[in-house]
Amino acid sequence: MGLFALMAEHYPTHSALYAGSFTHVTPAFVFPNTCFVDMDKRAARFFADPAVLDLVRDHKTYTEEPVVHFHHGDYAKGFEEDEEAFDLLISQYAGFVSQGCKGYLKRDGYLLANNSHGDAGMAFIDPDYQLVAVINRRGEKFSLSEKDLDAYFIPKKDIEITREYLESIGRGVGYTKSAFSYVFKRVA
Ligand SMILES: C[S@@+](CC[C@H](N)C(=O)[O-])C[C@H]1O[C@@H](n2cnc3c(N)ncnc32)[C@H](O)[C@@H]1O
Repeated sequence: MGLFALMAEHYPTHSALYAGSFTHVTPAFVFPNTCFVDMDKRAARFFADPAVLDLVRDHKTYTEEPVVHFHHGDYAKGFEEDEEAFDLLISQYAGFVSQGCKGYLKRDGYLLANNSHGDAGMAFIDPDYQLVAVINRRGEKFSLSEKDLDAYFIPKKDIEITREYLESIGRGVGYTKSAFSYVFKRVA
């Protein structure tokens, strides 16, 4: 919740796409229009339950009526949402969302990605994204910084980080300085 509230505070966000969400519905408490995508049947069962919308209504931090959509399937194979429809794309522990769902993110929209599966590193080498901030966490407190971004994504080992390399290992590589999560802007 703190992570998404911090994003909302810094970047105007009405609509968010969370690919590989499982049942992590929390973004809907902060963003009025949320779309979740997951291939797991348990996530599909969870979002099909009308009680989810009641839960969102009970916890939402905005005044309007929430809009919550769910698509069951592989986010990389496409789903029925308009191109460039979302202000924010969320990638947390769910593979290369930055690549599979880029087309749904508005130009000038933001990607919130961690590097657990290497997605932040993937976005960093993708010229369509620009690193604009890092987020750090201390307990339940999150903080955002837009300073000294050049210090991030410098590999500890002397290896060339390519798309193919990241896809082959499927996890984040070690960098000399890292953050809890990263914010990128879609620039192309
Ligand atoms: C480790 S869980 C993380 C869940 C959530 N993002 C969180 O941080 O609590 C990874 C989720 O991503 C989903 N996932 C991974 N690859 C996917 C894909 N290509 N399409 C749809 N869902 C995917 C899995 O089904 C799983 O529910």
